[in-house]
Amino acid sequence: MPRRLTAFTPSGDLHLGNYFGAVAPLTERQTSSSDTVVFVSDLHALTLDHDPAEVRRRTLEFATLLLAAGVDPERCLFLVQSHVPEHTELHYLLECVAGYGQAQRMIQFKEKSRRLRQVRTSLLTYPILMAADILLYDADEVPVGADQRQHVELARDVADRFNTSYGAVFTVPRAVNPPIAGRIMDLADPARKMSKSVSAAGSLRLLDPPDVLRRKVMRAVTDGGTEVVYDPDGKPGIANLLTILAACTGAPPDLLAEKLDGYGDLKYAVADAVVAVTEPIRQRYEELSGDPDHVRELLRRGASVARGPARRKVDRVKEAIGLLPAVEDFGP
Ligand code: ADP
Ligand code: TRP
Repeated sequence: MPRRLTAFTPSGDLHLGNYFGAVAPLTERQTSSSDTVVFVSDLHALTLDHDPAEVRRRTLEFATLLLAAGVDPERCLFLVQSHVPEHTELHYLLECVAGYGQAQRMIQFKEKSRRLRQVRTSLLTYPILMAADILLYDADEVPVGADQRQHVELARDVADRFNTSYGAVFTVPRAVNPPIAGRIMDLADPARKMSKSVSAAGSLRLLDPPDVLRRKVMRAVTDGGTEVVYDPDGKPGIANLLTILAACTGAPPDLLAEKLDGYGDLKYAVADAVVAVTEPIRQRYEELSGDPDHVRELLRRGASVARGPARRKVDRVKEAIGLLPAVEDFGP
């Protein structure tokens, strides 16, 4: 069984795009810690300005919400990135393999750095830490939304380059995108992707109560005309609503379109479908968040299971790349 791995950076609010883009493809098929790895990538949250207390709070919130959304620590490896120091150790070793030019060409780096007055070095090296996250666990498949594909490509290149230069140490991963909801758009601006940090009005957050979700859907920007057709170029707003409905119900968007009579009808159907997906998650979150110690204990166990194989992997990498083992590793 190919090993799947993904992670979530604890900034902003998890939304339906994150859920269909990365959470559901993972939870749908988790069977054991050897085939599924999911973690909260708290180190990635430090690449931008942040409030330390807020990152800590969000880390626990994200972990709790992932559990509520179906991550099962009995059937996957579930942890916080910074609890396994091998992530950062491997990050440095991979910086010695990854090209500076390639990191600079990442679209997300260009977009984010353009908006900032001061760019942290870690924003540039962010995809190399992500490569370390993936390669540390020998992941075969990385479920991510369309926006993260390029970073997974970089991880592939780094793995290839390392294997060619220093011996076959890494599994070469590939991105897997959900067939229909790899890029859910913002309801208030269908030209922009739904995002954790932007637009409260256009983002369907997993923790939004039903009345808030319904209001956001009913106010979603639509297009000219009245006919419900799936046409992402000509009718991006309607196409996005149909995509959301398709992701929630499992039916293809063009078939759904045929059965709907007008934009109002479509919006009611989307609102009902979204609430049916998110409400059980929100309720489960409410229960779980009453016992944060339990969540922290699950995270502690996950990190302790991960550390053995992670240590062995990093030791192999160190040896392959040319580092002298510490004396205690020489044996008797
Ligand atoms: P955001 O861009 O909202 O801040 P992240 O970049 O932290 O979210 O994404 C977490 C995961 O969710 C990634 O795998 C990402 O590709 C996926 N994802 C993010 N936004 C969407 C979206 N609008 N549609 C589908 N998947 C998405
Ligand atoms: N960078 C990803 C994001 O913000 C999160 C992430 C960190 C990740 N490490 C990863 C995703 C490894 C997949 C695999 O969305």
